Amino acid sequence: MENRPLEYDYTVAKMFMLTTIVLGIVGMLVGVILAFELAFPSLNTVLGSGVAEYTNFSRLRPLHTDAVIFGFTLSGVFATWYYVGQRVLKVSMAESKFLMAVGKIHFYLYIVGVAAVVVSLLMGITTSKEYAEFEWPIDIAIVIVWVLWGVSIFGLIGIRREKALYISVWYYIATFLGIAMLYLFNNMEVPTYFFADGAGQAGIGAWYHSVSMYAGTNDALVQWWYGHNAVAFGFTVPIVAMSYYFLPKESGQAIYSYKLSLLSFWSLMFVYLWAGGHHLLFSTVPDWMQTMGSVFSIVLILPSWGSAINMLLTMKGEWKQVAESPLIKFMILASTFYMFSTLEGPIQAIKSVNAIAHFTDWIVGHVHDGVLGWVAFMIMASLFHMAPRVFKKEIYSKSLMNTQFWIQTLGVILYFTSMWIAGITQGMMWRAHDAFGNLTYSFVDTVAALHPYFFIRGVGGALYLIGFLMFAYNIYKTWTVGRQVEERELTNATPMAA
Ligand code: HEM
Ligand code: HEM
Repeated sequence: MENRPLEYDYTVAKMFMLTTIVLGIVGMLVGVILAFELAFPSLNTVLGSGVAEYTNFSRLRPLHTDAVIFGFTLSGVFATWYYVGQRVLKVSMAESKFLMAVGKIHFYLYIVGVAAVVVSLLMGITTSKEYAEFEWPIDIAIVIVWVLWGVSIFGLIGIRREKALYISVWYYIATFLGIAMLYLFNNMEVPTYFFADGAGQAGIGAWYHSVSMYAGTNDALVQWWYGHNAVAFGFTVPIVAMSYYFLPKESGQAIYSYKLSLLSFWSLMFVYLWAGGHHLLFSTVPDWMQTMGSVFSIVLILPSWGSAINMLLTMKGEWKQVAESPLIKFMILASTFYMFSTLEGPIQAIKSVNAIAHFTDWIVGHVHDGVLGWVAFMIMASLFHMAPRVFKKEIYSKSLMNTQFWIQTLGVILYFTSMWIAGITQGMMWRAHDAFGNLTYSFVDTVAALHPYFFIRGVGGALYLIGFLMFAYNIYKTWTVGRQVEERELTNATPMAA
C-alpha cells in the first residue's frame, strides 16, 4: 500500500462540484435579473401581483447574495477541500468509513439547508441582517453542517501520512474556525414565540421569528465585525488556500516563497479582525473604533499583497504559460484582481473617500471586482484543474475555455467600470448644494442619471453568466464524453488536448 500511489476517493468532492456549478448558475442568473430590475424598475412588477411578490428586487437580492456566498462559493470551498485535503495529507477518504459517511451527510444536510434558505427567503422570512438573513432553525442546521465539515477536516488530519501541514491546509483550518466564531456570535438571537406581548398573550411572532440578542449600535458593530470578516474568511482565506495549491500544481512551479506565505497568513489573521469598523464610518459607533477600522484597512494591503505577489512570482521564468494555458490565465488574472480589490478597499476605507463612496454603487463595483475577478475566477480555475483528475478525462475543449476567459474578463470590466462611474456620480450629486446650502439634486435625479451605467452593468453581468454557462458545459462534456486519460499523462503545463 505504502509504495503504490494512493487511490483518492473523490465522491464527496464531485458532489460539491455539482452544487458549485448549479448554485453558481442560479446565483448569477438572479444577479443578472437584479441588475436589469435596477436599470428598468418596471421589471419589478411586470409579472403581476401574484408572482411579483417573489420576483421583486427586495426578495431576490438576499437570494442572490446568499446563493453566491453560501451556495456557489462555499460549495467551491468544500469541493476543493475534499480534493486538496486528501492529496496534501496523503490519505484517501476511502480508508475511513466514518469520514466517508461524515462527508456524505455533510453534503446532504447542506442541500437541505440550501433548500430551506431558498424557500424562506422567497417567502420573505428574514432577520434582515445582511449576509445573516436566516432565521434560527436554519442557523442551527448550518451550525451542524459546519461541525460536520470540521470533523472531516480534523478527522483527515488525524489519520494523515504526511506530517507537515501544507500552507493550504492552514488556510482551510482558518476558514473553518473563523466562520464558526463569526457565525455563532452574530447569530445570537432570541425566538419571540416563547415570549408574551404587551397584552400578556404568548407567542408574539411566528414560530421561526426572532430578534437579535444585541441592540442598536452594538448590533451594528457585531453585524459588521461579522460582515467584514465573512469577506475575510469566505472570500479571501479559502480562495488563497486554493491558489496556493492549484497554481503550483497547474504550472509545475514551486511556490515562490513558503516563508512569505506563512508571514502573510499570520498577518492576515491578525489584521483582518480589526478592520470591520470601515463599514460604519460616520455612524454612531465611537470615533476611535472608526479610525481603528480605517487604519487597519490600510495595513491590510500588506498581507493581501504578500499572498498575491507570492502567486505572481510563482510564475517567475514561466510567463509563457500564461499565454499558452487558459487555466493559468484564469489564476493569474484572479491574483491580479485580488491585488486590485485589496488596494481599492483600503482607499474606500479612508474617511474622506468613504464620505463619497458609502451607500453608492462604487461599493457594489468594489464587491464585484473582488468576487467576479478573484473569487469566482479562482473557483472555476480550481474546478478546471480538478475535473481531468476526478473524472479521469481530458478537458473537453481548451478553445471554449479560452473564449470563456475573454468573455468573462470583458464582463467584469464592464461591471466594475460602470459601477465606478455610477458610484462617483451618485456621491457627487448627493453632496452638491447651492450657496444657501440647498441640495442641487433630488434623489430621483440621481436615479435617472445612473440608468445608462445600470444598463452597462447588466450587460457585463450577462456576459459573465454566459461565460459561466460555457464553464458548466465544458465540465459536463469533460465528464460525459472527454477522452479517457490517466493522471500521469496530464503534464502540468498543458493538461488539455482540444
Ligand atoms: C484590503 C482588503 C479590503 C479592504 C480594506 C476593504 C474595504 C472595504 C470598504 C471600505 C468597504 C465599504 C464599506 C462601506 O462604506 O459601506 C467594503 C465593502 C465590501 N467589500 Fe471590501 N475591502 C477589502 C477587500 C475585499 C475583497 C477582496 C472582497 C471580495 C472578494 C471584498 C468584498 C466586500 C464586500 C462584499 C463589501 C460590501 C459589504 C456591504 O456593504 O454589503 N472586499 N470593503
Ligand atoms: C453574473 C454575475 C453577477 C451579477 C450580474 C450580479 C449583480 C448584483 C446586483 C445587481 C447586486 C445588487 C446591487 C445593489 O443592491 O445595488 C448584487 C449584490 C451583491 N452581489 Fe452580485 N452579481 C453577480 C455575481 C456575484 C457573485 C459571483 C458574487 C459572490 C461570489 C456576488 C456577490 C454579491 C454581493 C456580496 C452583493 C452585495 C453587495 C453590497 O451590499 O454592497 N455577486 N449583485
